Amino acid sequence: MSEYKGRLTYAKGTYMEFVVAPNQDVDFGDILVVEGKNDDRFYIRAYDFKIKSRWSGMNGVSYLMSKLDENGQVANQEELDFYLGGNHTVKIGIAEQLCYSDAQGQLYNPKTCPDFFCEVRGLATDDTALLNEMKGDLEIGYLKSGRAVLKLPVGIFGSKAITEHIGIFGTTGSGKSNLVKVLSSSIIDSENYGLLIFDVHNEYYRDLSLHPRVNERLVVYNTNPEAARPNVRKLALNYNEVEPEDITACATFSEPQLDAIYKLSSVWQDRWMDYVLKYDAEDIIEEIAGCTGQKFQSRTISKIKSICWNLEQELNISEEANNPAEITAVSQMLKDLEQGKVVLIELKNISPVGEQALSTLLSKKMLLHYANKSETERSFAKPVLIVLEEAHRFLGKKEQSTQNVFARLVSEARKFNIGLCVVDQQPRLLADKVLSQLNTLFILGLASKSDRGKLEAMCRKDILQQRNEIKNLDCGELIVATNYMRFAAPVKVHKFDEYLARI
Ligand SMILES: Nc1ncnc2c1ncn2[C@@H]1O[C@H](COP(=O)(O)OP(=O)(O)O)[C@@H](O)[C@H]1O
Ligand SMILES: [Mg+2]
Repeated sequence: MSEYKGRLTYAKGTYMEFVVAPNQDVDFGDILVVEGKNDDRFYIRAYDFKIKSRWSGMNGVSYLMSKLDENGQVANQEELDFYLGGNHTVKIGIAEQLCYSDAQGQLYNPKTCPDFFCEVRGLATDDTALLNEMKGDLEIGYLKSGRAVLKLPVGIFGSKAITEHIGIFGTTGSGKSNLVKVLSSSIIDSENYGLLIFDVHNEYYRDLSLHPRVNERLVVYNTNPEAARPNVRKLALNYNEVEPEDITACATFSEPQLDAIYKLSSVWQDRWMDYVLKYDAEDIIEEIAGCTGQKFQSRTISKIKSICWNLEQELNISEEANNPAEITAVSQMLKDLEQGKVVLIELKNISPVGEQALSTLLSKKMLLHYANKSETERSFAKPVLIVLEEAHRFLGKKEQSTQNVFARLVSEARKFNIGLCVVDQQPRLLADKVLSQLNTLFILGLASKSDRGKLEAMCRKDILQQRNEIKNLDCGELIVATNYMRFAAPVKVHKFDEYLARI
């Protein structure tokens, strides 16, 4: 199956040149194999070309020019073909060695270079050392090599990638949502990981519910589920599940307002929200003044009451929202996640305030749930990936500095077996501290140069050489760079429905 592409003509360190065989195409970004002497193989990536000819010198060029007519046009094509034909003119591919496999099929970083005139060929299915590393256990697409898409699957190893955090970046329409769907589908098949998706546009249910194993593996929550959608549950919360941080995360509060929220919760503990809604502002002020000696203005308390009221309505918060009270929607959700299910939280019909409060609340519960586990308990719980769309709203430079729950997830979650998957169209808006913690990047087409520049600067793998490739990515194409893979690989992501048809 592998195609002969040419022969090696020069190597120095990891830099290589090879002559492209006549009638063969090699493109920018092609991944090729140089056959070594002792069944070892050198994997290389072509990134540039040059043309060399015995006519390249000044004399040669002048001689050829003399074959043109006075207008510089070809006078006798046949004669010119004679001069240019044969091996007088060659195309030289310039490549970089990516990695090396020995005769036993063990993969290493570049160790040595191949010999002069070794054969260069295309990748084939028997290049198993490289392909197994790229395949992972969560497939996302096929390897792209130049303009061709090879039928060689590429993916990530969930066990390595999830807890090291993931970034999915691309302009609108570049294929981010499709990638999340394909990744979800691979997670459903694998059963080894939990996935919590905050679905801002309610766009995942329709497609994911086509998966053959949806009934056992997918759970959907909606605060206001319309009838007749299987696997969709009603999301409701108990007052005592809401903490001050969930409220402070969702709106801007003045210093006195923040102070009041914390005072209320310290006085009334987990009944604070219940009481804030139940009692009049004047009674609340009196009670707090009695307990803490601090007298808040009624404007301050009214604002808190108003936000709590909105959230109560929107998120179905009540005293006994869940019946029986011990199996709440949240605790059921955490159980599903740790068993390796995909949980969708549909947020489209919730206001930005409600959405912020709910995402904060659930992510925090997830973090606490895993953090409170003993080592043994944790070994039975599956790693969980939390997908956060338009993540700069939570992890921008300003937000990150407040150490909200998402910032804590980025810095602490890996030790508890949780990872964050940050999806955004403008990676430059994310805090550097966040970007630097994302060890797997899926870089889709990005229109803005400053976004591409930001990722080049923050990516752990050197992707500078792929700058042109990244600039020219079409819809559904990406470069995946992950810390355990030896190089950043170009991928054509499966289209979700086609991928599903294969399962
Ligand atoms: N890998 C792919 N192959 C083919 N078409 C794709 C692929 N990824 C996305 N598309 C198409 O491109 C369009 C936009 O994709 P989408 O995933 O919604 O982009 P984004 O979420 O980045 O805005 C959709 O119509 C989708 O079907
Ligand atoms: Mg999208």
